[in-house]
Amino acid sequence: MELSEAYPMTGGDGLHSYAKNSDFQRKAIDVAKQLISKAIAQGLDVGDFNSTKSLGIADLGCSVGPNTFTAVDNIIEAVKSKYESQIPEFHVFFNDHVSNDFNLLFTSLPQDKQYYAAGVPGSFYDHVFPDASLHIVHSSSSLHWLSGVPKEVTNNNSPAFNKGRITYANSGDEVIRAFKAQNRKDMDRFLHARALEVVPGGLVILVFPYNPDGTHPSRIPINMSFGLIGSALMDLAGKGIVGEDKVDSFNMPVYVMHRHEVEAAVERNGCFSVVSMEILPKVRENFSSNDSVVDEIVGRARSATEGIIKPHFGEDILDELFDVFRKKLAEDFVPSAKTVDQEHLFLALKRKP
Ligand SMILES: C[S@@+](CC[C@H](N)C(=O)[O-])C[C@H]1O[C@@H](n2cnc3c(N)ncnc32)[C@H](O)[C@@H]1O
Repeated sequence: MELSEAYPMTGGDGLHSYAKNSDFQRKAIDVAKQLISKAIAQGLDVGDFNSTKSLGIADLGCSVGPNTFTAVDNIIEAVKSKYESQIPEFHVFFNDHVSNDFNLLFTSLPQDKQYYAAGVPGSFYDHVFPDASLHIVHSSSSLHWLSGVPKEVTNNNSPAFNKGRITYANSGDEVIRAFKAQNRKDMDRFLHARALEVVPGGLVILVFPYNPDGTHPSRIPINMSFGLIGSALMDLAGKGIVGEDKVDSFNMPVYVMHRHEVEAAVERNGCFSVVSMEILPKVRENFSSNDSVVDEIVGRARSATEGIIKPHFGEDILDELFDVFRKKLAEDFVPSAKTVDQEHLFLALKRKP
């Protein structure tokens, strides 16, 4: 088994926490709600429920809440309206990396929840549930995180060495190829594990940032934002605050898939049919000013990346790094407002018999 690296969102409920900086990801869950209902109404095919049978739901990459609770409620509401007279008991498994703040997740579980809850630590690129034990798997805003950075991009003897950058988006073909290959391997692992865990007729519902065909990776908002963190790190290297070699040995394990890469992965795996694949309506932000856009993006990026930046560069650089990042965002990124709308793909897969 290949080990996955772990880089959870910032825990707790402080200023920089994921819990306080994940409105954007919640909006992706909100816009997916109708499609989830439709996929469950038309696609879920797991037979009848009687008093002895419960329905297993897993949310992969659940983080700390509250978004995961909204997603789970949406799924349960859809199942209830499908089965009306024969409502099963629900067993919900919240999965994330072992270092995720599961304490916060458990202490914030809704008091009026309609399900039994359990935490399942471990990488979703591995087999983390018993065979044929899940009826619905959901994952939102998580699948763009790779199991790790491709080794060659931090190896200065490799043609894919990604010097001075922390994403593949503005890099040469070798670097892009290395990230693509990592994503391909990861998607194969992800679907292989789900094919074992999901019962025939069960669903895998995925919502993730995606790259509309034809868009160069450097124009994808999430890549642009992480690219600016890289540029901010290089500024700190220029001032001697971090070593340049430290920047060269650091990359974000993130890849934003094209639709055809998703389709190819499903086809290679062969165990699922596609119930629905749709581009979600854009997650639009209603900001009163450019400053508030910048605040939102800085908060979102910091809560998502501190967990990976801190172990490599240390905690002391964080405030200055995100100050520089904020300035770059305000100057380079936000003025072209339409680029802050990251697009998401909705994919519902049914486990074949
Ligand atoms: C941006 S958060 C999304 C959280 C939540 N699903 C939402 O929509 O708000 C991404 C989550 O995926 C988790 N994650 C990333 N890679 C993972 C992996 N290989 N296995 C389990 N969780 C993973 C991260 O730890 C993080 O909590």
